[in-house]
Amino acid sequence: MPPLLIRDLAQVVSPASGDGPLRGPALGDVRVVEDAYVLCEGGRIVSVGPMRELDRITLPAEVVDLDGRGRVIVPGLVDCHTHACFAGDRTAEFELRARGASYEELHAAGGGILATVRATREAGEEALEALVERHRGWMLALGTTTFEGKSGYGLDRDTELAQLRAVARAGGVPTFLGAHAVPPEFADGDAYLDFVLAEVLPEAASLAEAADVFLERGAFDARQARRYLEACREAGLALRLHADQFTEAGGVELAVELGARSVDHLEATGHAGVRALGASDVTAVLLPVAALTLGRPMPPGRALVDAGAIVAIATDFNPGSAFCESLPISINLTCTQLGLAPAEALAACTANAAHVLGRADRIGRVESRYSADLLLLDTSDWRHLAYHLGGEHVAVVIKEGEVVWER
Ligand code: NIG
Ligand code: FE
Repeated sequence: MPPLLIRDLAQVVSPASGDGPLRGPALGDVRVVEDAYVLCEGGRIVSVGPMRELDRITLPAEVVDLDGRGRVIVPGLVDCHTHACFAGDRTAEFELRARGASYEELHAAGGGILATVRATREAGEEALEALVERHRGWMLALGTTTFEGKSGYGLDRDTELAQLRAVARAGGVPTFLGAHAVPPEFADGDAYLDFVLAEVLPEAASLAEAADVFLERGAFDARQARRYLEACREAGLALRLHADQFTEAGGVELAVELGARSVDHLEATGHAGVRALGASDVTAVLLPVAALTLGRPMPPGRALVDAGAIVAIATDFNPGSAFCESLPISINLTCTQLGLAPAEALAACTANAAHVLGRADRIGRVESRYSADLLLLDTSDWRHLAYHLGGEHVAVVIKEGEVVWER
């Protein structure tokens, strides 16, 4: 792939420098270079700066020029929490919820997650691969250049492993959500965990990078979550939790104690949980679309940032609680509903989301040495990414120095 020079850009925007996550005032400290260029070579960014400095660098021969006039560059977005590998849909449940049924009621009646488990088990690995590939295309067109994808709709050996392989084949980062719900063939959560830890984890650990558990009434309690996560840690996986979505059930304390990478949702988290996260290195992953879709209170985003927590945002893309693959919409909601500034919201789904995926030294910033994952937005003020709800800002998506999508 030839070197790529994007020139005459209205702005180039990147979260503050450093190889790690951003917290406190640094979260909002994005760097904006006006009238700028970005030079990429070998899939990486080699240089970024104002146009007036372009003649100081020696350009490689045969460079491909891209006109950036009237446009801005931001880092490719990183979606660090999705359930992109699923079959079927839950349109009928969506209608029931519109008519007043609750998500938890549908779950307790064997619908919800278990409805998607039935469809996903039936699909077969080839169909699952095609589905993740399709969803990956949807995400890419909205600017997501890196996505995480969880298992958790198999809850049997073959389907869980097939899900992890399908995510990896589509270029995603696989997470083993082996403890998402208790499938009907097991009497209780403990019996299911006996099975999943003995029969699925050993192979899942070689396919996934992290493990995840749904700690909630009707799913797994804190004791069971601890058992699952400790075994997964032993098998070499990073740890993540779905916690405090509906009730506070000890998920934040457990995440902090186990040194988890992240604790995700947090719609029900109170002051003590906010303080605990502020004093920890566990990333709080906020999913405003899930709260919006289910009509739940929004997670305490502003309080978490002010308490010094590492905050990331993600879509939670799944067929039940968040059938939305749009990080731009999540960014808008983060500003309008969680009280974060556009700069904080951008860092939360670039540099900090990359940190959740163990990649903060490689993706999520527009800096030399970083992967050339870039979005060209059709605006000369990057904040339109947050401001224009549902707007079609993403004009060009570049992944590893190559144009992979164009409007
Ligand atoms: O993050 N709450 C648990 N898991 C998903 C929803 C999965 C589903 O409804 O299918 C979530 O919201
Ligand atoms: Fe989720």
